[in-house]
Amino acid sequence: MLIGLKEALDFGQAHNCGIAAINTPTFEMLVATIKVAERYDIPMILQHAEVHEPVNSIENIGPAMLELAKRSTAPLVVHVDHGESYEFVKRGFEVGFNSAMFDGSRLPFAENLKITRDVVALANEYGYGVEAELGVMPGREDGEDSDAGVGDAALYTDPELATEFVAATGITALACSFGTVHGLYKAEPKIDYELISVLRRRTGVPIVMHGGSGLSAKEYRECIVRGVQKINYYTYADKAALEGAKQYLADHPETYVFAPVSVAVGRSVEQNLEELVRTLYEGQLSR
Ligand code: 13P
Repeated sequence: MLIGLKEALDFGQAHNCGIAAINTPTFEMLVATIKVAERYDIPMILQHAEVHEPVNSIENIGPAMLELAKRSTAPLVVHVDHGESYEFVKRGFEVGFNSAMFDGSRLPFAENLKITRDVVALANEYGYGVEAELGVMPGREDGEDSDAGVGDAALYTDPELATEFVAATGITALACSFGTVHGLYKAEPKIDYELISVLRRRTGVPIVMHGGSGLSAKEYRECIVRGVQKINYYTYADKAALEGAKQYLADHPETYVFAPVSVAVGRSVEQNLEELVRTLYEGQLSR
């Protein structure tokens, strides 16, 4: 069933857990994510990032995301991730997505604020929630950014600006830079936990972690306790997908068809996401 962004985040807050927000640009990722949400009967966020348009366009994968989410027994949000323009978010809403992130974090503050307000006004027409970003995080989710792998404290989210930004835009959640990076880490992440607490307290909205791959259980837990309610996660699930494919090919070198590889990929992603949600719910899951 479809639920809104706010409902999912409220659940996270009430249960002191992080809501897993998974990018599902391929059908294997999509089906595996929904299976995990159903297995544990937990809210999850299915998302499509603009950077994944070359894998599948939002008009192609979006209707599949929506149809499977509506049919599912699990409560799911279908969310535009890292919309880099008002137009991309609008395309998502036209497909039927019921939540969106506008990412103007690399724009000057005033421009980011203006477009975010426009996106919120559009989302309000539908009654949808909006996530926006302030502060710069290195890396991209397409595995192409060679600079990824280390956070830069000079680019972390400024609490003063964040407070002004949230009050002026009316967003539902704020994506912040506090030490995580998109893609693979090339050095130990150095997370500024105190900054998360300050941002949560001063802005009054849930904080979103981008670059959720590759943290330890302890790091996830501390971020959640400090006010992170949405954990964006992709690279390690996609890495697991590739490992599943490689393992299948190593075990079946004579194979001449692709479908069994797709099954192996799905299984491998499922295992990876199971591990993630067990960590994010820390002992609260019944199975
Ligand atoms: P990772 O790919 O590093 O897990 O980050 C995902 C993300 O932030 C999607 O918006």
